[in-house]
Amino acid sequence: MRPEPVYRIPFSGRAHRYTPAEVELVARVMQEADPLTQGRHLKEFEAAFAQYIGAPRCFATMNATCALELAAQLCELSPGDEVIVPAHTFTSSAYPFAKQGGALVWADCDPATRVTTAQMIADKLTPRTKVVVVAHLYGYAAEMPEIMDLARQHGLIVVEDVAQALGAEVAGTKAGTFGDLGVFSFHSHKNVTTLGEGGMLVVQDPARAALVPQLRHNGHCPYPAERANYWTPAMGDVDLPRPGLWPSNYCLGEVESALGVALLRRIDQMNAEKRARALTFIDGLRQYPELRFHRVATTRHTYHLLAAYFDEDGRPGLRDQFMERMAYDRLIKCVVQYRPLYRYPLYAKNGFGRAVCPGADDFFDHMVSFPFQHWLSADDLEYMLHSTRQVLEDLRR
Ligand SMILES: Cc1ncc(COP(=O)(O)O)c(C=O)c1O
Repeated sequence: MRPEPVYRIPFSGRAHRYTPAEVELVARVMQEADPLTQGRHLKEFEAAFAQYIGAPRCFATMNATCALELAAQLCELSPGDEVIVPAHTFTSSAYPFAKQGGALVWADCDPATRVTTAQMIADKLTPRTKVVVVAHLYGYAAEMPEIMDLARQHGLIVVEDVAQALGAEVAGTKAGTFGDLGVFSFHSHKNVTTLGEGGMLVVQDPARAALVPQLRHNGHCPYPAERANYWTPAMGDVDLPRPGLWPSNYCLGEVESALGVALLRRIDQMNAEKRARALTFIDGLRQYPELRFHRVATTRHTYHLLAAYFDEDGRPGLRDQFMERMAYDRLIKCVVQYRPLYRYPLYAKNGFGRAVCPGADDFFDHMVSFPFQHWLSADDLEYMLHSTRQVLEDLRR
């Protein structure tokens, strides 16, 4: 294999820089917080997130995968229950539901928006369908009102995977608050990151939400009755309401939580900046129909990522030539993302290796994801735009 070059524009593993005030905050909480987990900053982050998102019951977790594990538990799956999941998404949108005994059924994605639709979900419904997972991929919010109508007609639980789309809205309502459960990520790559890892679970139903503190923290709970002394029989009880329900330890730490509060104050601004840059880039390539972008000028798209479909126009392999020239001639690292999940050995080995999702297959085989971290400079973006045009011109020859 040819060694990778030293890139001028990497596909960075970190989404954004921190402000001096955020760095000072982290250092202070690091020294002063007591305890360093499950303290006041966790509660403050959950309250600030609830306010931002417009839903009252929010629970911070170590990452979105932990939140998805909790969401899958809250669905209370029985053997044979089917869970419809988009094939075109990150792996942890899916496997937590299989771990709870769900049978995964793959939904396709719309080639124009790259997310699933109500119709694509309807195509996969059976009498065994219990849960639908919707992933707002690339930062674009799927058609939630239509999906919720379908779900209500069929009595389905809807889990929104908003890992990539914090702040995205459909008609003024934030993604993650339509479904029964919403899951967010503050991973290193995401719109905002709480030092590399972080997540949030939004739960609509109060009865389900009541289970989360114990599920999230080792089953710890108060004793049912008053104790004579605070130290007997022990610090706290350990319980959950029914057999078969087992807890984990998934709380987000205090430093990350304090930082999360600060980042929420500028998420809208960061999203707006990314959207403006995405539109400039897309519009700057109007003369190049080889690259088909998803152009959305509203808050429905946060442009967490900037992805295009490469139309090879009868010349197979052209996408890979484009990637190669961008990498080795221009030192810009584009990547290919979201192999349809049924094409991974893990899912095939577990009996979920079959699907009819032509949109997901075709998009994966033709997609190009451009580096689009928030910290790119205006010069970097200009260089990437200019380079993209040049490489496309070269490939036309
Ligand atoms: C769509 C989607 N779902 C879930 C996750 C998992 O997020 P985390 O890394 O916070 O567990 C990711 C992150 O990579 C993602 O992109």
